[in-house]
Amino acid sequence: MDCFEEDLVNALREIVNSSNWQCLGKKSNFKSQCTKVYSEDGEHIVLIRTEDDRFWAMDSSCPHEGGPLDLGDIEDLGNGKLALICPWHHFDFCLDTGESSTGLQNQIYEVRVVQDNVYINTQNALSLCPIPEINTVSLGKESLEDVKSTSTEDTLCYWATKILCTPDPKDKVMLTQEVLERWNSGKITEVGQAAPPAQPSRKDSLTVLEPGKIKRGKGGTQASRIALLHSLANIEQWAIDLSWDIIARFSSFTLSSGEPLPRQFFSDFVKVAGDEAKHYLLLERRITELGSYFGALPVHNGLWQSATDTSQDLLARLAIVHMVHEARGLDVHPQTLSRFAAQDDMSSVKVLEVIYSDEITHVAAGLKWFTYICSEEGRECLSTFHELVKQHFKGYLKPPFNTEGRKTAGMTEEWYVPLVKPSS
Ligand code: FES
Ligand SMILES: [Fe+2]
Ligand SMILES: [Fe+2]
Repeated sequence: MDCFEEDLVNALREIVNSSNWQCLGKKSNFKSQCTKVYSEDGEHIVLIRTEDDRFWAMDSSCPHEGGPLDLGDIEDLGNGKLALICPWHHFDFCLDTGESSTGLQNQIYEVRVVQDNVYINTQNALSLCPIPEINTVSLGKESLEDVKSTSTEDTLCYWATKILCTPDPKDKVMLTQEVLERWNSGKITEVGQAAPPAQPSRKDSLTVLEPGKIKRGKGGTQASRIALLHSLANIEQWAIDLSWDIIARFSSFTLSSGEPLPRQFFSDFVKVAGDEAKHYLLLERRITELGSYFGALPVHNGLWQSATDTSQDLLARLAIVHMVHEARGLDVHPQTLSRFAAQDDMSSVKVLEVIYSDEITHVAAGLKWFTYICSEEGRECLSTFHELVKQHFKGYLKPPFNTEGRKTAGMTEEWYVPLVKPSS
């Protein structure tokens, strides 16, 4: 190679290196229909290869509730278009556009095959090596006796811990309702202190899988409605525990002034716990009316991971659990509702409407206490929130957002729009 040719090759190499085309290696490496590709920014991608040897790519985390699209199936939508079907609630995502008939949108990426090598157009470095996953989380088996609690029976923390250690969701609900009544009527007056269990207890008969390991059969329309209600009831069971956990875990939290949290903080989260218990009951009843029962299907424990990640930091807990996850619940509500309405299941629609209006108040509670603590500590609310989300939440926040619902909760766009993936 003469000097000129060498310069030219180097110049071309530089162009390729500084472009957004990431080489994944030989086409022959991608034999399966879906391959998960790990992205340096945490927003992993699924590379899809269809039988006719065409390639597509989209975000692997489902925009609905984070289901693993890399474990999904490809289906023909009947209009000449192919879609990737999420294994959790069967939302479809068109391979060409990322659009779903449910109204959600997934991020797609251009894919090219050049000289047998597969390239994806993204500015982030990609890797085929899995980033080590967190191992199977063993569910808490701690009994109340194992938990070092300095609380006596007439404190809120005693009951919070007891409820976390109660495996049967029905008992959890009953106790929650009892404590709500006793706190509101002044029969329990002290907050107390407690060391809550690392994980709440679950019934032995409940099959708990890691997020991403749940694959549901297609079933008829009723079966898919039951599956959706079942997954929502599971979320509510975790939500009851998350409410009691924030109470017990942060019972001795002090502001930099040395002051404890105001009593109203605890009252607000006791109310949230009561709402979540009500939501669980409503969903469980509806599943029973439809001829199934809670526990009939496997569930995932994805929500507790956020609790563990934020167990040392109250601001991070409020930000991730209440202002990211619960706000996401508001975003997906219209789509979920329309799925039940389309099948004329108005009883389920009524249940979902009750849940929705309560959930707005939960996002509002998260926001209220987040801003309270920030202002007491002299921290700027928005930048603190953005930093904490980047630190504790994998990937970006995804539109579409329920702007109205979020606004009713007090969460204006400046809170979440800066956390959306910048367009490249
Ligand atoms: S998480 Fe994918 S459809 Fe619900
Ligand atoms: Fe709820
Ligand atoms: Fe909630």
